[in-house]
Parts: sequence; structure tokens; C-alpha cells
Amino acid sequence: QLQTKHSHRRQKILVVANRLPTKPKRDAEGNWTFERCSGGLVSCLAGIQQKFDMVWLGWPGADFNDTEKEMVANEAMKQGCYPVFLRQSLIDEYYNGFANNVLWPLFHYIMPPFDKGVNECSTEQWGAYKKANEIFTEAILSVYEDDDYVWIHDYHLMLVPKFLREAKPDCNIGWFLHTPFPSAEIYRTLPWRQEIIESLLHSNLLGFHVYDYLRHFLSSCVQLTSLEISAHTIDATTIGGCIVKCATVPIGISPDEFLWAMKKPEVQSKIEHLHEQYEGRKVILGIDRLDYMKGIPHKLMAFGCFLEHHPDWADKCVLVQLAVPSRRDVPEYQRLQRQVHELVGQISGKHSTISAGVPVIYMDSSMSPDDLTALYNVADVALITSLRDGMNLVSYEYIACQHGKQHPGVLILSEFAGAAQSLGAGSIRVNPWHLQDTANAIHEALTMSSEEREALQEYAFKYVTEHTAQKWAETFLQCLQEACSDLMEVTSQ
Ligand code: G6P
Repeated sequence: QLQTKHSHRRQKILVVANRLPTKPKRDAEGNWTFERCSGGLVSCLAGIQQKFDMVWLGWPGADFNDTEKEMVANEAMKQGCYPVFLRQSLIDEYYNGFANNVLWPLFHYIMPPFDKGVNECSTEQWGAYKKANEIFTEAILSVYEDDDYVWIHDYHLMLVPKFLREAKPDCNIGWFLHTPFPSAEIYRTLPWRQEIIESLLHSNLLGFHVYDYLRHFLSSCVQLTSLEISAHTIDATTIGGCIVKCATVPIGISPDEFLWAMKKPEVQSKIEHLHEQYEGRKVILGIDRLDYMKGIPHKLMAFGCFLEHHPDWADKCVLVQLAVPSRRDVPEYQRLQRQVHELVGQISGKHSTISAGVPVIYMDSSMSPDDLTALYNVADVALITSLRDGMNLVSYEYIACQHGKQHPGVLILSEFAGAAQSLGAGSIRVNPWHLQDTANAIHEALTMSSEEREALQEYAFKYVTEHTAQKWAETFLQCLQEACSDLMEVTSQ
């Protein structure tokens, strides 16, 4: 357990992420309340809260007027959250713009259109990104106390380490990337590559999901800086940075939450209901944020291809696809939704039958945790076709919910998801760009023997239960503590 030098208080962790783990809700009288979000980073850090004081800093997800801000801040603080207010114009340029229209695609290997360079618009967005990162830094400084550990999350806040180090030279800073870090050949196309990488090198620890992302980051450092790098450690002191440790710390889920949920009578009755509803049909399940990196069109096209080759399966299986709306103000996401709707229509038009109805049940919505658990449990196949994905915890959740079944289902997993490096041997791995490959995998999964399915499930379940969210958070904080104390030793020599 981390200890503070000040014996009167527990070690404090400042968790800094773009988004707070709470959702603002306005009641009938116009008052704001906050609802804790389920899943995601919130449940990953739940275990840590038992050991450390934790303060969350993040954007509360909406634009509030000045009179609302105080009420919102008071409500959020009741849940240990410290809202970082951003004006709508800044959200447009920083969040919708630079973070989600420049960095997000590039970190997932999507280059700007081949006939266009970076335009003025992105330059303005870069200014907004800097501004937002400054605002986050000011918010951190307003709650920061000596010896705190600051854990910064993701691609939205990559300039915070430098701003923070300049203000607090002794600050303990860790940063974790939830997306892939792309190959250096992709990263170095970014006009602001230098500023970003140099800022990150003001952290004590940089964490990545899988070794490849770490390796790509180190290659970028080699190409873009002349710093000394050895054994995953970069000496950035000559540029005012740190002796930076880089580590692979793969995230996980809290499998117990799903195992407990499955025992609840209300979930059991939902499971029974779903079995009745889909009797005689195998359920193939897709759950994704509606994001172009999730490869939803590729999944639909591969499913269409499977039905073309195996028309006898048209009334014996159903693809249930949940597409949770996301980043609706970014035009690319709006285009994606139209494309997906069109594909669902095409497949349904072609393969629906009077006896079995439509082959695809598609929903533009999220689902309650209980409904989700029941659906995961009932599904015979989970189909994940991400074109790139930092990790993909849906695959972990599916494995957790297949536990205890006499005939477990099969996970089909894109080899471009970080999870393929952990659950690969417990799944059928596919190249989602190769539609026929995915179509063949669907057939293989639907016709696989019980013994084979059990062997895959056993392997994957063991991994999921051994590499939990709690372990991820503890390991990261442990590495951060070590990185900071090593640094103290070096500087005191
Ligand atoms: C990815 C990112 C997260 C982000 C999440 C949802 O997983 O790595 O940082 O919170 O997507 O996206 P949103 O833009 O809604 O926060």
C-alpha cells in the first residue's frame, strides 16, 4: 500500500480523465444530480478506493451556465469528483475536434485524406487542445497536495504532464494510454508530434495495454528525440523532463461483478426469457460503441457473406447488434450511423424469412447492466471485429458471462484488438478486413464441438479472472511508486 510522508492522511491519488465517471441529470425542478456511470474506468478503479483517497477530475459532459456550475460542483464533490468546466466552443474544438477528429483516428491508424494536408482548422483545434490541457492542469493544481500521485488518462490530456511538471517539479506523474499507440511511421505524420512526445516525457511512468504499443512509443522517441533510451527507460532530463519508465500494464474487468449479477433472480429470469425468445436459433452477439474503429460495417458485411454461403443458417441464427451512440457531434460518426443503418436494411431485405423474421436485430442504444449480462450469457457467439482497438473489454465481459454454462459460447475476436494478445488462444482470431475469413469463423463457431468450445472458454476465463481491473490499477500504481522512488534515489546521489 502506498504511504504518504504525512502520517495524518492516506495516500491520495488524483485521477484525471477527460470525462468524469458520473452523468449529470436534470430533475423536474431543474436541479442537477449526478448518476455514477457503470463499467469503464469507474469499476476499474473501484477496488483502489478502498486503499487510497481518490479524487477524480474531469469534464462533467455538458456545458453549464455560471449559476448551475456551483450546484453541479457541489453535487459532483459528494461523489469524490471535481468537475473541470469547459465552454461549448472549447469542447467543439478540443474534444470533438483535436482529440476525436485528429488524435483518435491517427492513433487507430487512420491518416488524414491522402489529398489533404493539415489545414488551418486543425491548427485552431490544436490551440484549443493546449487550452483545455491548461485548464485541466489548473484544476489539478487547485486540489494537489505534496506527495499526491497524479494519474492522467488517455490521449485527451497528453500535454498535462509538462504543464504540471513546470508548476510542481516534484510531482509524481503517471499517464496511461487506453488506445493503441500507433507505429512510429504513423505517429510521425502528426504536425505536433514533438510537443506531445516531449510533454509525455515529463511523466514518471507511461503505461500501455500491450507491448507493441510501448514498442511503437519507444521507436517514436528514438526517431523524434536524441534522448538516451535503455531497458524501457528514457532519460529526458536534458529537455526538462524525467527519467521516464515505460511499462505494459494490460487493463481488465471485474469478473465478479458479472458472476454475481448472473446469480440475481431478475437476471436469471431475463436469461430464461431470452432463451424462449430465440428458441431454435443461435444468437451471435455484437456490442460496440458506434465508432468506425469497431468495424461494425465489416461485421455486418461478413455476416451477410456468411448467409450468402450458408443460406440454410438464415432461419437458424440471429445477429444481435447493440451500437451504443457515441461522439454524435463528430460528422464521421453521423456518417457511420447512416452506413450501418443501410447495411442492416440490405441484409434484412435479402435474408429475412417469414418463418424466422429478420436475421439482424440492431439497436442504436445502450442497455442496463442486468440486460447486458443476460444477453452475454445467452449468446452462442460473440463477434468482435474492431479494425483497431486499444484493448476491447466486451470480449472479457462475454467470457465472464459464459462461465458455468454446460455448452459455453465462442468468442470471435479481431486480431487488431489489444485483447487478441491476451485472449487470442481462447478465441477464433480473425482479420476483420477479410470478410470471408470472418464469415468462415462464424460458421466454425456455430458448428464447433462442445469439447473445443470448453477448451477455449477455460483458457480465456482463466486469463480474465487472473488479470482483473483491480490488478491493473494496483500494478500501475505500484510501478508509479517505484518509478518515483527510483527517481528520488537518482536525484539524491
Ligand atoms: C475510448 C477512450 C476513452 C473514452 C471512451 C468513450 O475508450 O479511450 O477515453 O472515454 O472511448 O468515449 P467518449 O468520447 O464518449 O468519452
